[in-house]
Amino acid sequence: MTTQDTTTGHQPHDEHREHGEHGDDRSGRRISGVEIELRDVVKKYPGQKAPAVQSLSLTVPAGEVVMFIGPSGCGKTTSLKMINRLIEPTSGTITIGGEDVRGRDADELRRTIGYVIQGGSLFPHMTVADNIAVVPKLLKWSKQQIADRTEELLDLVGLDPAKYRDRYPRELSGGQQQRVGVARGLAADPPVVLMDEPFGAVDPITRQRLQDEMLSIQRELGKTIVCVTHDIDEAIKLGDRILIFSEGAHIEQYDTPENILAAPANDFVADFVGAGSTLKQLSLSRVNELRLGEWTTARQGEDAADAVRRAEAARHDCVVVLDERGRPVAWPWLRTLRRQTRIDVPRRDELVTLDRRATLNDALDTMLSSSHAAAIVTGDKDEYLGVVDFESVTQHIRAQEASAVEAAEAAGATGTTGTTGTTEAQEPRP
Ligand SMILES: Nc1ncnc2c1ncn2[C@@H]1O[C@H](COP(=O)(O)OP(=O)(O)OP(=O)(O)O)[C@@H](O)[C@H]1O
Ligand SMILES: [Mg+2]
Repeated sequence: MTTQDTTTGHQPHDEHREHGEHGDDRSGRRISGVEIELRDVVKKYPGQKAPAVQSLSLTVPAGEVVMFIGPSGCGKTTSLKMINRLIEPTSGTITIGGEDVRGRDADELRRTIGYVIQGGSLFPHMTVADNIAVVPKLLKWSKQQIADRTEELLDLVGLDPAKYRDRYPRELSGGQQQRVGVARGLAADPPVVLMDEPFGAVDPITRQRLQDEMLSIQRELGKTIVCVTHDIDEAIKLGDRILIFSEGAHIEQYDTPENILAAPANDFVADFVGAGSTLKQLSLSRVNELRLGEWTTARQGEDAADAVRRAEAARHDCVVVLDERGRPVAWPWLRTLRRQTRIDVPRRDELVTLDRRATLNDALDTMLSSSHAAAIVTGDKDEYLGVVDFESVTQHIRAQEASAVEAAEAAGATGTTGTTGTTEAQEPRP
């Protein structure tokens, strides 16, 4: 990954909406997406014995992210591409915002639907800016409008416009190309965005960042997004709903991540979700639900001995150094600071931080790879918020388990389950 990936600059201002509140807390949230509906959609490729898509009916609510997941060849890509008519259905009806897609000119339709695929699939001979501007140009936006939009989008996906606007795709890392691909998909502000394994080809840390960015962009824009993935953890993290397909695009379960984890509809789904669903619940909790630890902070250029004294008084063996805008730049040990007069730390790129909206899974990953066995948490505009450690995660898990047992006991007491709450709550754990 490249170091620029750590400086996202762009953050939304509202709190992350909690999983589990899907659909009922939307009042304050902007929704620019529209509903997508598939009715009895069939796709039979020429020469195919069984149709790739047998008969698919589903509704994707406006402003939601629906994740398509299922074994290879089960018809995810085919289903997705029928929505923007990159593939024509054999039969059935697809409506977007209530309008039948067959009534639209296919090219015109595709200009109103964002489409993002693996690797970004940028045009190699065009600059980043020109790649992003493809659809706005087709829509005959003015030069100024296009320039402003490109600037805005590069910011949105965490790339400095001045630095990246005029580069060619080959001069970007895989993760950066993917970001430009996302920016291009959003360029004309489409109400619907289709994504096919958009983050499949990047390393795990870049993927985590891109996912977090997609979540924050989505919180701000409220698009309707259909996204294919082969990673159940990604589906759990990004989806308002998950659709689990089997062969022939047959729906095995279409539900919220919580319900799929807690109550898989059948063995196929249970196998697909896999063992350790308690652990997967970690993907549903976010760092901002934890109690963050307070840590000694100091400013870049400050008297080093002062900072050391403060840290010693607080029994801390390291200090979080912040830049002039309150963003963490380094986390030096006291033994390093004792050798300095003024605090002088390397550039911020070397510090790995955790966005407050990161999942506990991501938090554990980051902590495990940190020599501090902890991680610095940042908020809007990358400002410093505090520190998480294993203890805070463990406490959170224990509290969650306790409340799950309580809920199961309450259900047992009211006679809604056959067994006692306690055994029920503990049985499924590995
Ligand atoms: N153009 C085509 N012509 C004929 N058969 C096709 C065509 N495209 C896909 N198929 C077949 O249709 C089925 C569904 O393919 P699709 O690409 O939708 O699967 P998928 O779920 O996206 O798989 P993957 O996870 O591997 O990307 C497969 O059996 C595939 O071989
Ligand atoms: Mg596919």
